[in-house]
Amino acid sequence: MRFLTTRRRHRAAKPLLLAFALLVMGAFYVAVSPAPQVSADAGTSGQVAAGKNLFAVTCSSCHGLNGEGTKQGPSLVGVGAAAVDFQMSTGRMPMAHPGAQAPRRVNTYTAEEIAALSAYVATLGPGPSIPNSSAYDYSKLTDEDLARGGELFRTNCSACHNASGIGGALPEGKYAPSLHGVEPLHIYEAMRTGPQQMPVFSAGAIPDHDVASIIGYLKNLEKQPSAGFSLGSIGPVSEGLFGWIIGIGGLSLFAVWIASRGARAR
Ligand code: HEC
Ligand code: HEC
Repeated sequence: MRFLTTRRRHRAAKPLLLAFALLVMGAFYVAVSPAPQVSADAGTSGQVAAGKNLFAVTCSSCHGLNGEGTKQGPSLVGVGAAAVDFQMSTGRMPMAHPGAQAPRRVNTYTAEEIAALSAYVATLGPGPSIPNSSAYDYSKLTDEDLARGGELFRTNCSACHNASGIGGALPEGKYAPSLHGVEPLHIYEAMRTGPQQMPVFSAGAIPDHDVASIIGYLKNLEKQPSAGFSLGSIGPVSEGLFGWIIGIGGLSLFAVWIASRGARAR
């Protein structure tokens, strides 16, 4: 009898655990999968009009009806499509609560909505545009390029983002976030638009190929276990969530493994 009841428990537990593990993996995939590519620059007039409407509803309370800025938010004239794409794709805008710094969050807007808003803001004044993926392609870099990427990173970025890219505190409660797991597109856009205290790195200062080298260097850095996820770092919430989900995912897989071993042992 005892044999039978324990068997039954195992039979129900296994699929349940599997389903849970799959759910966690799904959530993990949604959290880290890249947002669909958009090329918003040559915005159609319909897209610009849609963006203007959405802007009036979602953004104008802080940035003004024509993006001219208010006490609550800076002018967006000349920040370019890349700034909107960066700020919205990384979930920083629309800012939820006024504060020292808009934190990175999960973006809840569709690619179409972001493309429309980007196209609209691009009409306010010339600014950096959303690049094609070829501009920051880091798949064909040589070892020399990667070494140069590391050099450029240490010279231009590590003062704020730490030599291992895990980020660091800045004065007045602000911080430079961790760069681990950031989309190549968003690294490119951050450099060209200079969010918050981050300086703008224009194409004149750091041409596209060098941006790609920095991205390649950062992606290599992520692969080195010692450089990643240091628990004491003040990285953004997303980093903690990432670790949490991986931890839970690992635990569920471990539980499934134990369940299957338990069943076999009997
Ligand atoms: C609650 C107020 C608020 C709302 C709503 C808001 N923003 Fe912002 N936005 C800010 C503040 C404050 C900053 C500057 C501080 C920062 O970047 O963290 C900013 C910065 C930006 C920047 C960066 C500008 C630059 O110089 O690079 C962009 C782009 C932007 N917002 C776009 C938007 C868009 C698009 C929306 C609507 C979808 C929006 N914002 C909604 C307050 C707001
Ligand atoms: C003076 C300090 C400073 C320097 C130098 C600097 N950054 Fe930043 N960086 C910041 C701050 C502050 C933010 C956060 C902006 C925000 O939250 O709006 C940031 C944000 C970023 C982001 C966005 C990350 C995310 O979580 O979405 C990337 C990518 C980035 N920086 C890359 C770089 C690279 C690459 C360099 C060197 C070429 C660099 N930064 C140099 C201060 C700096």
